[in-house]
Amino acid sequence: MLIGVLNRKGGCGKSTTAVHLAYWLSQQERVILIDADGQASSSQWLQKLDMPSVVINDPDDLFDQIGKLAEEYDSVIVDSPSVLGEPAKSVLLSVDLALVPVQPSNLDLLSAKDIVRLVNQAQKIRKEIPKAAIFLSRAARGTVLLREAQEALRKTQGFRLLDSVIYQRQVIADAPGQSATVFSMTGEAATLAAKDYNKLFEEAIDYGKTEEPKR
Ligand SMILES: Nc1ncnc2c1ncn2[C@@H]1O[C@H](COP(=O)(O)OP(=O)(O)OP(=O)(O)O)[C@@H](O)[C@H]1O
Ligand SMILES: [Mg+2]
Repeated sequence: MLIGVLNRKGGCGKSTTAVHLAYWLSQQERVILIDADGQASSSQWLQKLDMPSVVINDPDDLFDQIGKLAEEYDSVIVDSPSVLGEPAKSVLLSVDLALVPVQPSNLDLLSAKDIVRLVNQAQKIRKEIPKAAIFLSRAARGTVLLREAQEALRKTQGFRLLDSVIYQRQVIADAPGQSATVFSMTGEAATLAAKDYNKLFEEAIDYGKTEEPKR
């Protein structure tokens, strides 16, 4: 499956999600990550994990290479930059699934409107493709804000709000510094984080594979 991780909001967890998803999928199939962000943080992280990645910033190269790499690999994960420019459009014209992490804050919800619009435009051109899934990222457990954000996002046009939530956890922030993902780290916190990611990725991939209309 070709999956793009996108949102305009910086720091919402795109790269962390993309790397964990690539690692998770690599347990079952051949995966490559395309790092479309000039910061190259996810590709540096994956190098430490001995996993394949490639940095591509040019929108035309992105478009060409996503298609090419899809022939060589079972899955291609694209970690997109926070700028919603031409590279993000190339991603949305290529992928099967757009995965959008959103932090539960009013400002983040507001800025999510931009990626929703861009995804909806791609869906219009490509006849309801890519499928699009949104999830709450870096959330604080049990807060009113989390529940309100879930309510607000549930109605997002063209998107499925995933039930899975990724909570703010120190162990997730520590993972790149330890050249690891939470899947390979030890301790209770890592186990809990890994469980959350398992659930998220299963839900997202299942949704990506369904044939039924998304709304
Ligand atoms: N669930 C989480 N719990 C704790 N820290 C997290 C979590 N997700 C991400 N972080 C941390 O938050 C910061 C931003 O995450 P990340 O780089 O994945 O976001 P991003 O959306 O890719 O940012 P950018 O827009 O700059 O590319 C990083 O320091 C990361 O380690
Ligand atoms: Mg990033």
